[in-house]
Amino acid sequence: MATTSAAFWADADRHLVRYAGPADFTREIIARAEGSFVFTEDGRRILDFTSGQMSAILGHSHPEIVAAVRRQAATLDHLFSGMLSRPVVDLARRLAETLPAPLEKALLLTTGAESNEAAIRMAKLVTGKHEIVSFARSWHGMTQAAAGATYSAGRKGYGPAAPGNLALPAPNRYRPDFTDADGRLDWRRQLDFGFDLIDAQSVGSLAACIVEPILSSGGIIEPPPGYFAALLEKCRERGMLLILDEAQTGLCRTGTWYAFERDGVVPDILTLSKTLGAGLPLAAVLTSAEIEQEAHERGFLFFTTHVSDPLPAAVGNVVLDVLIRDRLDECAQHLGGLLRRGLEQIAHRHEVAGDIRGRGLLAGLELVVDRETKRSSDELGARVTRRCLELGLHMNIVQLPGMGGVFRIAPPLTASEDEISLGLSILDEAIGDAVKTR
Ligand SMILES: Cc1ncc(COP(=O)(O)O)c(C=O)c1O
Repeated sequence: MATTSAAFWADADRHLVRYAGPADFTREIIARAEGSFVFTEDGRRILDFTSGQMSAILGHSHPEIVAAVRRQAATLDHLFSGMLSRPVVDLARRLAETLPAPLEKALLLTTGAESNEAAIRMAKLVTGKHEIVSFARSWHGMTQAAAGATYSAGRKGYGPAAPGNLALPAPNRYRPDFTDADGRLDWRRQLDFGFDLIDAQSVGSLAACIVEPILSSGGIIEPPPGYFAALLEKCRERGMLLILDEAQTGLCRTGTWYAFERDGVVPDILTLSKTLGAGLPLAAVLTSAEIEQEAHERGFLFFTTHVSDPLPAAVGNVVLDVLIRDRLDECAQHLGGLLRRGLEQIAHRHEVAGDIRGRGLLAGLELVVDRETKRSSDELGARVTRRCLELGLHMNIVQLPGMGGVFRIAPPLTASEDEISLGLSILDEAIGDAVKTR
């Protein structure tokens, strides 16, 4: 028998490790989820503008995913890690078909951190070097190498990070640190400066640079066009590999299959996670036959319990089926346009909306208390988030030092126009209410 709500929270408080830093658990008991909504035990409907943890691109409990899980769990769920099954080989081939040459080799894993761990491990083995460069606002996950390349949170208090992790300034156009004569971000000078510092600190062992095409946990920072081509050149000059982490941006979220398509670059290694399983734990590392061959010759080992598991791979195949059949790249472009225009109208009405950014259905709204100084207030962000929840909208805000609170808005790609409009109108109302009660 279900306990009362008070008993639920007493049990949660008594028995759960609080893993989210200072953030509290959302004080709602979630009973089920369907499409773009989650439903609380007491019958409230909440529009999910974060696709769960930025993953459920097909909405919650998509009927075809439900059917695939049922089918696959009943026929072939899990295997000895050295055995192969059709869903795994199919998914590897089909992912390669969505990617430009020479990305044709896949390693199928479980989480984002794990995929980055494997990518970094492969890059170190193949180059014979160990230094890893990433953005100073990055998030690549919680396992050792991924956490070593993560700078936006969680570095303090866990003892020494692996030697050889080096940070590159993130190109933030709203808060530029290197400026041109017009006060705009001079990203070339910033990038040159960043690599001057990296070269000065390097012990001569630069292996790879790992970056997100749009920094999500770093506050939806979208590097300007041209940036990644220049970054790739910096990598090439130093014999480093470029690893792109498309955990959040991959698989149609930004309006193209992969965010890097905008930039005319192809990474040496690509990692996918969150969106690949559309909410179920599935991740992939993709690379060229040449890099895979070199890694294999050097004895590449990444043997895990759930590598090449058939059940999540079957889900990944259905995710690809639905993305292709329903043209969800085009949907993300179209709905992203609606979202963008709605956010611009909100910015028109509310002074605290300092900046709107992002691409497709990955949007950012930065809150400031003063547009001139761009001063921020954690309290304002918390109030808007709370009010949204009261009004039936789940929003996530990132609060990082030196920035305003940034809402990361990432509805499912299957959302309807009405659902996007509903979310926008709740956000509009919540900002209005939060400003009034200041
Ligand atoms: C860009 C990026 N990479 C990696 C990760 C880590 O993924 P996971 O939490 O599945 O390990 C995240 C998670 O937020 C992410 O946003």
